[in-house]
Amino acid sequence: MKTFYRGKIFTFNHTATLANIQGVIPDSLFVDEGKFTFLRDGVIAVENGIITAVGDYSIIKKQIQAEDNLVDYSNKLITPGFIDAHMHATQTSAVSAYGEKLLTWLNNYVFPSEVAFKSDISARREYEILLNQLFKNGTTSICAYLPSSYDGADVLFEITHKYNMRVIMGNTIMTDGNDELITSPATSMKISEKLYQKWHNTGRIAYALTPRFALSCTEETLQLCQDFVHAHPDVYIQSHLCENKNEIEDTLAKFPWAEDYLAVYEKYDLVNDKSIYGHCIHLSDSEWSRMVDKGAILANCPTSNNYLGSGLFRYDIAIEKDAKFALATDWAAGNTLSMFRVMDDAYKVGMLNSFKLETLTRWYSATLGSAKALQLDQYIGSLEVGKEADFIVIDTAANELLNYRLENSHDLLDYLFSISSLGDDRIIDATYVYGNKVYDINLPCIQK
Ligand code: GUN
Ligand code: ZN
Repeated sequence: MKTFYRGKIFTFNHTATLANIQGVIPDSLFVDEGKFTFLRDGVIAVENGIITAVGDYSIIKKQIQAEDNLVDYSNKLITPGFIDAHMHATQTSAVSAYGEKLLTWLNNYVFPSEVAFKSDISARREYEILLNQLFKNGTTSICAYLPSSYDGADVLFEITHKYNMRVIMGNTIMTDGNDELITSPATSMKISEKLYQKWHNTGRIAYALTPRFALSCTEETLQLCQDFVHAHPDVYIQSHLCENKNEIEDTLAKFPWAEDYLAVYEKYDLVNDKSIYGHCIHLSDSEWSRMVDKGAILANCPTSNNYLGSGLFRYDIAIEKDAKFALATDWAAGNTLSMFRVMDDAYKVGMLNSFKLETLTRWYSATLGSAKALQLDQYIGSLEVGKEADFIVIDTAANELLNYRLENSHDLLDYLFSISSLGDDRIIDATYVYGNKVYDINLPCIQK
């Protein structure tokens, strides 16, 4: 039995790349060499969590059998679920903290709130709120930093597994800094090994080794991280890089042998094509080149960078160098889980640097571009036959102002630009993970 979802469809297709979508102005047929698809009256068919057909309703409707379901989202937009390539699952209660930049913000607000995750009761409650908010905002995949404790981290693996979400996550390794959060290097590795063995490649889950940042790690810890990556070459790595000028100064003081911040991670073989580095705002020319040469992933977090006053990411350099970059919230330094708000801030950061970050680039970097950077594009990021059915339904009519703005919009780029400029959780009508509805604006939250 299949389910057919009828509505407008917008998706990038696998031939799209960061380079080949630059400067694209869709023609009136919206076919643009197959890099993306826009259908005014389209349909996707889903069976057992996998997309089995995408196309014009007038053509695909012939495949619908008596036993199949047809869900009518006519006039609403069906598009891939968003991927949030860098976020902290431990910071929901610390969102909206006043007045501090990165290092003081961490010490005053974040570290104290993360202590609560030693209890799995508090962890469960916070994760429940977080997942409901993610689905309400149309996010279906996350790269998440989890608590440093085994139990606190294990609970979110368990919950996301029940939802069958495609996630990349790991326990945050901290062996230097806040006394209540740190563990010994050996303990942090034992926790990492146990979680890796239990969860990596279980269902749709991938494990990420997650040394928080150089400042929270001793050299012994970084050495153990290197050993871990050598023992498990398929593992993801996630950390922070060049987010804030004081952070960079303190890192260079802590590791005086390092020529720059990136060199600390490089010394321990932590920079490769499965490493995801948050922020990357203040990279030197050499660091930019080394990140790109190694195929490392830059998780760009404009709402967070603006919130903490960390600086302006150089989209012009990222595009010129064809860097692998993916959009992310960095929740809860980013004070929103909405990828529309992230796309909007990315645009504004571009404007502050006198750079027009194109609309398609931003949608791409929240969906297929992110999936490609994370090497997950065989599974997610677009609505194509054979892909996993992670998609959202957008109802622009649910936002009066957006609806009014779109009355005279007849151009795909303007339509997408307006949605990302004015959209928020009010226009997410429904969210589907692996073909299962996990959010419906008209129903109470669906709990697992
Ligand atoms: N650097 C190290 N830890 C963090 C964190 O939790 N948030 C941000 N934005 N930067 C960090
Ligand atoms: Zn972060």
